[in-house]
Amino acid sequence: MRYALISDIHANLPALEAVLSDIAGRDGITATYHLGDLVGYAPWPNETVALLKERGIPGVAGNYDSAVATDYKHCGCRYEDPRQEELSHLSYAWTRAHVSAATKHSLGELPFRITIRPEGGHAAGAEITLVHGNQSLNTVYVTEDRSDAFLWKMDTALGVNEGDAVCFGHTHKPWHRVVNGVHHVNTGSVGRPKDGDWRAGYVLLTAAPGTVEVEFVRIEYDVERAARAIVESDLPDDFADYLRTGGR
Ligand SMILES: [Fe+2]
Repeated sequence: MRYALISDIHANLPALEAVLSDIAGRDGITATYHLGDLVGYAPWPNETVALLKERGIPGVAGNYDSAVATDYKHCGCRYEDPRQEELSHLSYAWTRAHVSAATKHSLGELPFRITIRPEGGHAAGAEITLVHGNQSLNTVYVTEDRSDAFLWKMDTALGVNEGDAVCFGHTHKPWHRVVNGVHHVNTGSVGRPKDGDWRAGYVLLTAAPGTVEVEFVRIEYDVERAARAIVESDLPDDFADYLRTGGR
């Protein structure tokens, strides 16, 4: 069983289109799932949600999705300085003002967590868990520098075992680490990478009895189309440069 895991699209339609067409060109993909944060920072929130719906791609609620759906006071995003805080609020206000009622409803429908059983569930076998942040909140950043003890606490809370995989996004930086036999996979970001590589990122996870393989994929897309649309919208122009530089 081979799964494409796409996360943190953040209303970047050109990036999503490029990733979906890359996935469509591959043989043997069992299913595609998203790991949330469909909207925010770019000007295609409605188109992004509609495209995922049209393709029948299920997924979990990111902090941005659940905040918009519930009219929460802020997006649950982290900022390191006053300018970042200001930008974060501008993006959230723009997104709330521009999502349609149908988009908002779709965001509210997203489950918090999805569990996949590649071997079917009628027999024992590996389990793949998808969340946006961690097991208790979609706002928690599971960064690569988290300790083994932190990851194991997460695994225990999720009830996962050796050979299972826990997949998440939210930090926009891809990584993979095995602790006590459990795979921890941060899928990175389709529409707003923060690791200095502007290309759209996603994961191919292949599960066979006794093995889990993780491949990180990066795809070039029309980043200038996204940057231009940001500049032409009322979103802060800073977001255009952010995309061009991969968050550097
Ligand atoms: Fe995100």
